[in-house]
Amino acid sequence: MTSSAKPESFLHRWATPLQVLLTLGLYVQLSVLGGLAAAPGFYGWWTLFDASADWPRWLRALALSMAGFLAYFAYSLCVIFVVGAFRVVTRAGTPLGRYPYYSLKGYQWASYNALILLVRYTCINFMRVTPFINLLHRLMGMKLGKRVQINTAVIGDSNLIEIGDDTVIGGDVTLVAHAAERGDLVTDRVKIGSRVTVGLMAVIFPGVEISDGAVIAANAVMKKGTKVGPGEIWGGVPAVKLGDKAPRARDEASPRE
Ligand SMILES: CC(C)(COP(=O)(O)OP(=O)(O)OC[C@H]1O[C@@H](n2cnc3c(N)ncnc32)[C@H](O)[C@@H]1OP(=O)(O)O)[C@@H](O)C(=O)NCCC(=O)NCCS
Repeated sequence: MTSSAKPESFLHRWATPLQVLLTLGLYVQLSVLGGLAAAPGFYGWWTLFDASADWPRWLRALALSMAGFLAYFAYSLCVIFVVGAFRVVTRAGTPLGRYPYYSLKGYQWASYNALILLVRYTCINFMRVTPFINLLHRLMGMKLGKRVQINTAVIGDSNLIEIGDDTVIGGDVTLVAHAAERGDLVTDRVKIGSRVTVGLMAVIFPGVEISDGAVIAANAVMKKGTKVGPGEIWGGVPAVKLGDKAPRARDEASPRE
């Protein structure tokens, strides 16, 4: 049984029907964007389908199966540019601050991250540790240095994230600039310096700042607003400083560019 002394506001009373409507609207938007990205590959596949009508059945099956995979990878590349162009034109992004789930800013957060989710749920795993995932997040507004290796699909709020040169974001790290808390979304910028290693499955929350050369241990949970000094090693749940790392000769070398 639920009881509340406070009368429900209009927005709370209609929250679920409104959420259904907005979700259906997003499905339509994502169908248009996903369809645009899928069209070139599908066109190629269909052309082959028509052209191969007289081929032996086994050869046709083989060629169309391979063309199907090629069409999928063509979609993967095209969708980066389609959602990227949409974001640039609409200037979408996660707004900064603290705001209720059911608010205009809450919708801006959801609709922007839905663009990233379109890629994440359809093809991002084949982009991990390739320059394509970097291109996606750059187009989504991330400030990303050179030679960064990203081995995770679980990144949201890219427009509030900054990562320096030669940093590694390890496998299945959760890197987000928002946290849902007691009815509000709380967002803050995340800054990760150069030559940082973020260990496997670590969780990075909003407001975290990690200085150059630091190491975040596997499975660490970096609480909101944690500040990590240069070269430090942090780990645990919640993460605490485990030590200082002796700089490698390469770290001490004069700037590369
Ligand atoms: C944290 C880490 C850098 C420590 O490695 P190290 O410098 O060789 O040091 P050690 O293994 O000797 O451990 C040093 C201390 O940290 C602790 N520690 C190591 N890994 C830890 C982890 N994941 N969480 C919490 N504590 C950890 C050790 O128990 C030890 O504690 P103690 O001094 O009280 O005994 C390493 O364990 C790690 O997690 N690296 C991340 C690698 C990674 O995921 N890379 C990206 C993807 S491949």
